[in-house]
Amino acid sequence: MTPPRRQPARRRTAVLRREAVLAAVPVAVAALIGATAPAAGTAGAPGAGDPYFPLSGNGGYHVRHYDLTLRYDTSSGYLDGRAVLAARATQRLSRFDLDLTGLKVTGVIVDGLPAAHRRDGRELVVTPRHTLRAGRDFRVTVAYHGTPKPVTDPDDSADGWIPTDDGAFVAGEPQGAMTWFPANNHPRDKSSYDITITVPQGRTAVANGALLARHTAHGKTTFHWRETQPMAAYLATATVGTFDIEQYTTRDGIRVYNAVDPREAREAAPVLKKLPSVLEWESSLFGPYPFRSAGSIVDHAPDVGYALETQTRPLYDSAPDIDTLVHENAHQWFGDSVSLTAWKDIWLNEGFATYAEWLYEEQHGGDSAQETFDALYAHPAGDRLWAFPPGDPGSGENIFDTPVYARGAMTLHALRKAVGDRDFLRILRAWATEHRGGHGTTARFVRLAERISGKSLDTLFHTWLYTKGKPDSA
Ligand code: TRP
Ligand code: ZN
Repeated sequence: MTPPRRQPARRRTAVLRREAVLAAVPVAVAALIGATAPAAGTAGAPGAGDPYFPLSGNGGYHVRHYDLTLRYDTSSGYLDGRAVLAARATQRLSRFDLDLTGLKVTGVIVDGLPAAHRRDGRELVVTPRHTLRAGRDFRVTVAYHGTPKPVTDPDDSADGWIPTDDGAFVAGEPQGAMTWFPANNHPRDKSSYDITITVPQGRTAVANGALLARHTAHGKTTFHWRETQPMAAYLATATVGTFDIEQYTTRDGIRVYNAVDPREAREAAPVLKKLPSVLEWESSLFGPYPFRSAGSIVDHAPDVGYALETQTRPLYDSAPDIDTLVHENAHQWFGDSVSLTAWKDIWLNEGFATYAEWLYEEQHGGDSAQETFDALYAHPAGDRLWAFPPGDPGSGENIFDTPVYARGAMTLHALRKAVGDRDFLRILRAWATEHRGGHGTTARFVRLAERISGKSLDTLFHTWLYTKGKPDSA
């Protein structure tokens, strides 16, 4: 597997040395679906209407719950799956899509009756026996199997089910959930999950939320995980490997489950030890931790090149440093609990998680946020940092690029300077609280900041989020 050409900018050092000029990938903006209903008005749209990923997600229904039952053979890389989706129709529905790529579908059942289905690229098109009324709850069962492969994103990175030498690194941002289960694969749709996964004895399968049961028989171990809080499909994981396990409960009653590849254990230990204090510190700034479970999955997947804020339990491709631990856990508030409505708003995730790193350093003997800001602002006008404004990355190719992370964080620093520390922290906390378990948009964040500060902040946000090139004044 080829490593992503880009290192995620969240690795602080990488922010300062990124080059990568990438071929432009045309985005089928014209094909944007959902704007106009089809004549019949009863076929669900094949996309959620996101211009960066036009076929991600689907129209016409909401998935309330996913119940995934998986069996993974680590030696052959073969996955056997059954997905049961509890959904609700949001329109009259004669037909609907799920997102799924690769794998073979052997059967689809809707409300107990076999349904017609066909594959169309990354869409699994399902036609139930009977048209579903708007507002009606229905259940879809999909049986599938095959050898899952990661998807290659517009920025050339791989995500989804990524096989490793002892299992699989399973990270779905932005598109990869569809490589291992049929999904309504856009963060606009959030759902609870049961993930049950069977792996060879001696391997561990780690997913989101709480471990409800573990059971070994005939040389295989089954792990049953449950995440009850709403979760976007890209934040689901079922990472498999040889892991050392550590479990404990924090003073705040959060259940921690850490899984660490023994090859990373020595380097990871001093950083993972800080997880409770990092969560406490983040809770003191952002409000109560949004979930009941927490932890870490530290894999040994050197080709991946990034970490992911998988809900309740971030996934690392190697032992994280403290900034990365702070970053991925800050995402639990900003990105996981408060979700994107459109990928264009990605700075609401990455700018916030990066600014959490700056604040952590400032309050733990490192550089002040002002110093970090100043060092970045010194970058010359031609630097990658100023290549595009973070509020308008332009395409899916740019969503994990330096401007989103670093200039996104600079935007928050500019806000902090404009409104003062007290109001700034009130804004961050109110954002996490008011949209907890839901969604946010940039426009709503700007309105919130204005409401709390009583200031007009149009110019500030316009300059930092939407103006091309290096802003004139810090
Ligand atoms: N959201 C991740 C983080 O900032 C980074 C990430 C997820 C990523 N998927 C990616 C970076 C694909 C590059 C390519 O922690
Ligand atoms: Zn991030």
